[in-house]
Amino acid sequence: MWPNHRLIDLLGIEHPIVQSPMAGFSTVELAAAVCDAGALGSIGCGPVSPEIAARTIRQLRGLTSKPINVNFFSHASADATSGQQQAWRDRLSPYYRELGGDPQASSSPTVLPAFGDDMCGVVEQFRPEVVSFHFGLPGPRLLTRVKSAGCRVMSSATTVEEALWLEARGVDVIIAQGYEAGGHRATFLGPDLNRAMASQSGTMALVPQVVDAVRVPVIAAGGIADGRGIAAALMLGAAGTQLGTAYLLCPEAATPPLHRDALRRGAANATVLTNVFTGRPARALVNRFIREVGPMANAAPAFPIPLGVSAPLRILAEQRGSADFTPLWSGQASPIGREMPAKALTTRLVTETMQQFRRLSATTEELAV
Ligand SMILES: Cc1cc2nc3c(=O)[nH]c(=O)nc-3n(C[C@H](O)[C@H](O)[C@H](O)COP(=O)(O)O)c2cc1C
Repeated sequence: MWPNHRLIDLLGIEHPIVQSPMAGFSTVELAAAVCDAGALGSIGCGPVSPEIAARTIRQLRGLTSKPINVNFFSHASADATSGQQQAWRDRLSPYYRELGGDPQASSSPTVLPAFGDDMCGVVEQFRPEVVSFHFGLPGPRLLTRVKSAGCRVMSSATTVEEALWLEARGVDVIIAQGYEAGGHRATFLGPDLNRAMASQSGTMALVPQVVDAVRVPVIAAGGIADGRGIAAALMLGAAGTQLGTAYLLCPEAATPPLHRDALRRGAANATVLTNVFTGRPARALVNRFIREVGPMANAAPAFPIPLGVSAPLRILAEQRGSADFTPLWSGQASPIGREMPAKALTTRLVTETMQQFRRLSATTEELAV
């Protein structure tokens, strides 16, 4: 049925489709529905505590007996100076005044530990079939523990150099994340993340280069939202695809109403890469905060400190029914998104991809006659 069986066989799934782990959005119900359809459902545990991660994985295990993917962050710790943090608070203080908040009250930096020993203990307890990392990988000791627990390891690369780096450290699968992708860029090599964004490749250019450079199976991610995109990615040599934005409008996703409205209205050119929400470049629908402070602000402190500084603004605005300060994460393909239950969407994606391949083989036969 599928032209390439490497990912399917390695992960024990029926279809080479992965629903992106999306911290805060990918609920256990969403992941279970995708698993139920024969694809790989994922949950994003990057920003949660080991206790919450354990509870969430237990819930997901209760909803499906199929293979699951649990995702973590392996970012370098923020080292923003207190001067940078104060400057960012000063930059945002006019908005606090406008919305009636206190910028100093929001000053406690957000602490977001990267994947560590306690979280690794959760992985060892539940042994998800797949563990994926964003922003590189944990150190060799932790990685060995994850692999010894029997988990297949995946991580995202935004360049060929990052793909080679990941392969050399033993990942089982590389996710080639093209420029179109929604949410955070996975970028982890290079001295200056913000500058690196100018030279990032789109999925169409990145995937075949990564496929040529590594021996492990490659998953294409970024801007894929229907069977045409999946078929195209497989034709480029990918062994599978990872779709995030396409699942954001599913009823099972935890996408808030204001975010759903923005996605429904969003045009293909409505997204940009911005660092104003978290300090790391990420793709989101343009709103007032991005327009007036970004999209890329050199003054934004390192990940994830800006999140803590602007979170109260977001809450104040949302209480007034406004998404002016909400990170409206979205990839470039959001207008292709369909609003339907996740299992039905996944099945539709499979059918559409098969139609593309049938059309192609009919054309090939016609040409041969
Ligand atoms: C709302 C949202 C949240 C995301 N959160 C995560 C995350 O927690 N971990 C992760 O590895 N990738 C995350 N991503 C990125 C995806 O893994 C993937 O690269 C992306 O969804 C692919 O592009 P697409 O959104 O155009 O399909 C997120 C993407 C979106 C849209």
